Amino acid sequence: MADARELGTIAVIGGTGAEGSGLAWRWAHAGLDVIIGSRLAEKGAGAAAELNARLGRECVRGADNVSAAQQASIVVLSVPYESQAAILETILPALPGKTLVTIVAPLLGEKKGRYTPPPGGSAALEAQAQVGEGVTLVAAFQNVGAHHLSDVEHAIDCDVLVCAETREAREVGVALAKAAGLRGVHAGVLANTAVVEGLTAVLIAINAAYKVRSAGIHITGLPQ
Ligand SMILES: NC(=O)c1ccc[n+]([C@@H]2O[C@H](COP(=O)([O-])OP(=O)(O)OC[C@H]3O[C@@H](n4cnc5c(N)ncnc54)[C@H](OP(=O)(O)O)[C@@H]3O)[C@@H](O)[C@H]2O)c1
Repeated sequence: MADARELGTIAVIGGTGAEGSGLAWRWAHAGLDVIIGSRLAEKGAGAAAELNARLGRECVRGADNVSAAQQASIVVLSVPYESQAAILETILPALPGKTLVTIVAPLLGEKKGRYTPPPGGSAALEAQAQVGEGVTLVAAFQNVGAHHLSDVEHAIDCDVLVCAETREAREVGVALAKAAGLRGVHAGVLANTAVVEGLTAVLIAINAAYKVRSAGIHITGLPQ
């Protein structure tokens, strides 16, 4: 999978938020067909209108989450962990046969820089258990801060760890990372998302310690 434009329509569930709108902006800028999903159709439409104004062309649409998921071939989940199960429940009928890319990083408890694993091992494992094997789950972007994403001219010094059960599924995440201007790295199966999601808390702790917002990870030793 070299070009994410071959993936078809991308629905970003929770694309009105900081992380989802940043990715939607980068993907639309790269020429992907993007729908912003929201619990409220008019909120999705408003977020899409803002992106279109920035892009200077009408290429992003807004919709309610269910309708966005129905229209897409790739569904990106970008909502708080606390609402993951409830939001997945609403879009579940639209998901069979599709790829669900989850960005969700669980930040439980008061201290966001102290990792607490969720009961199912990771948010991604809980999502896979909920949606079933008829949906291909890919976990990616958990370690990329939202403020990096909003400026497409800004080169992001951070790799995207991509986990899924098959190499073919991970290729989808790698292609989406490339379209967003990032390097995607094959990071193994979904069990590894416990580590990847935990790294988000580690980066938050590093940001706090150094009073920055830009801590990221970069994998060394890979071929260029
Ligand atoms: N922000 C970051 O820097 C960052 C970095 C890495 C990973 N992540 C992960 O990416 C996901 C999205 O992050 P975010 O910062 O974009 O989150 P956010 O702004 O708090 O929420 C994203 C969207 O989720 C929807 N939503 C659904 N249920 C909600 C609820 N109970 N409370 C609030 N919003 C709800 C809202 O959209 P509607 O109201 O339109 O439905 C909201 O705009 C999270 O799981 C986060 O851990 C974030």
